[in-house]
Amino acid sequence: MRDGKAFRMSLIDPHSYYDTDQPAAKRFHLDWRVDFDRHVIDGSARLELSAPGSGPLDLDTKGLTIDSATDQRGEAIPFELGDEDPILGRRLRLTLPADTTTLTIHYSTSPEALALQWFAPEQTAGKRHPFMFSQCQAIHARTIVPIQDTPRVRVAYTASVTVPAALSAVMSAGPAGTRNGGASDTRTFLFEMPQPIPPYLLAIVVGDIESRDLSSRARVWAEPEMVGKAAWEFEEVEQMIETAEKLFGPYDWDRYDMIVLPPAFPYGGMENPRMTFLTPTVIAGDRSLVDVVAHELAHSWTGNLVTNATNEHFWLNEGFTTWAERRILEALHGEERCILGWAIGQKALDDSVARFGEGSPLTKLRTDLKGIDPDEAFSSIPYEKGARFVNVIEREVGRERFDEFLASYMKRFRFQSITSEEFIEFLEQQLPGVADKVLWKEWLYETGMPKNAPVFRSAKLDELTALAKSWSDGIKPNDAQIEGWATDELLVYLQHLPRELDHESLRWLDASFGLNARGNYEILVEWLSIAVASDYEPAFARVREVLVTVGRMKYLRPLYNALGKHARTRTLAREIYAEGRAGYHSLSRRVIESIIEKYAVDEVTA
Ligand code: BES
Ligand code: ZN
Repeated sequence: MRDGKAFRMSLIDPHSYYDTDQPAAKRFHLDWRVDFDRHVIDGSARLELSAPGSGPLDLDTKGLTIDSATDQRGEAIPFELGDEDPILGRRLRLTLPADTTTLTIHYSTSPEALALQWFAPEQTAGKRHPFMFSQCQAIHARTIVPIQDTPRVRVAYTASVTVPAALSAVMSAGPAGTRNGGASDTRTFLFEMPQPIPPYLLAIVVGDIESRDLSSRARVWAEPEMVGKAAWEFEEVEQMIETAEKLFGPYDWDRYDMIVLPPAFPYGGMENPRMTFLTPTVIAGDRSLVDVVAHELAHSWTGNLVTNATNEHFWLNEGFTTWAERRILEALHGEERCILGWAIGQKALDDSVARFGEGSPLTKLRTDLKGIDPDEAFSSIPYEKGARFVNVIEREVGRERFDEFLASYMKRFRFQSITSEEFIEFLEQQLPGVADKVLWKEWLYETGMPKNAPVFRSAKLDELTALAKSWSDGIKPNDAQIEGWATDELLVYLQHLPRELDHESLRWLDASFGLNARGNYEILVEWLSIAVASDYEPAFARVREVLVTVGRMKYLRPLYNALGKHARTRTLAREIYAEGRAGYHSLSRRVIESIIEKYAVDEVTA
């Protein structure tokens, strides 16, 4: 059993079969046909290795059917698929002939591929054409391409994607032309991503989509019905890019394009390089939710240039990006607004810590995810605890020195994937003594929040929280306050109200702020969470409407949880889920099903 190879085998990512003793892929080419009838991608992936190899090469796959594998000489490469692991999928072990530099794998995806969501025409805004999008983060790239699916292995890629002629394709890559697809009713789109990216940033959308230019390097894509609104909402993106460049250095990815997806998209945004994916819930009609764009744009530096080595260091991506997002917003909108952002983040952090429990290992920044699905470990903790850790370092050394540190950090690690420990080592080297001073070990390795966690305060924030607290003494905002509050101010106020209110109070709130009719989903969902947790019937129709269309997990979680509080709303939740299920992403389904399962436990113990 212990032949030399297996004995030396070194696996550095608990979510990948990647073995550091084997050659890594350095680029790949995809040749794909997108089949909307079967919900399948058929085609091939050609992997170029970083060095000629022979012997075993292990790739990650999940749900893929592998038809054949050949080397650069056209010789067949023997392969076998290992047993299915529920999280990792199946190891594809190829046995490379001597001096293999390139291998071509012919394969097809499963209709259940977790990375893909397919829509029938009637599920789209235009109702005329089908639609498909991908979401590869955290570990779903392996459901569409056989690859070393770990951020440690960075790859450049090119692709040629054949789709029905009425549709267009975009990818997380530069467009490189189109041509006739061979069959008369198809079209082939070519793409090129010359920079090496972690596999979770591979991304594709196919649909009836159209674009509007926002500047010479930015445009927004959406279904034709949506694209005008989207262009208005994101009109200021060029200013945002320029602001980010001043803070973090030149934008390195050529174009910054965005695409607005159908409401079933399970996230708010996804930082796919050159093509940020966005939920349509950010189109509030008043530009009040563009912080999501600031966040995804910031990933162009923190996450896409400097990447977490594995999901156990996810805070390096999201904590840094949340911090960076707030620096952008501060530069654009001032310190007051920025502090409200930190306060809104605090609420998300508190909720996540409460969900896992303060002593849960998932509240550490550096997590141990062996045997744990990264999607299950997902929470606001890497975002908000991570951003606070970055802020504590920034406060310790002062902004000027921190910004210099950040510039050298980007320079040192650009296009690399690093661990928390590598980050600390670099910090120690650049700013000796600071890591210890800010208690880095507590931040990274201990649960809950360290005692030196920063506190964010402003006169406005104090006023809003005090006012919300005095609700129970019968004190309500006056007309001037109601009139004058910006969206974030109202949100902070609502977040600090009691979670259950009497119906008279709810009627007053709705009448005063027009909450049921809001188009800003942050406000709407905060309101609906309080209303349904209070068994308030006038909100039921609106909650149904939101839940059967929107698949963003950030909104599903609080709403389905709030619906669990009363017998009548639990029944409503089950009804809504039965109606909405077909339209939800499988990731969203998993979240809702686990919440609804918990209802049953409450019912038994009640
Ligand atoms: N990269 C994340 C989304 C993600 C994380 C997808 C983990 C899959 C696994 C993205 O940058 C993100 O954080 N989106 C947030 C935006 C918000 C913080 C402004 C979201 O979707 O809510
Ligand atoms: Zn992010």
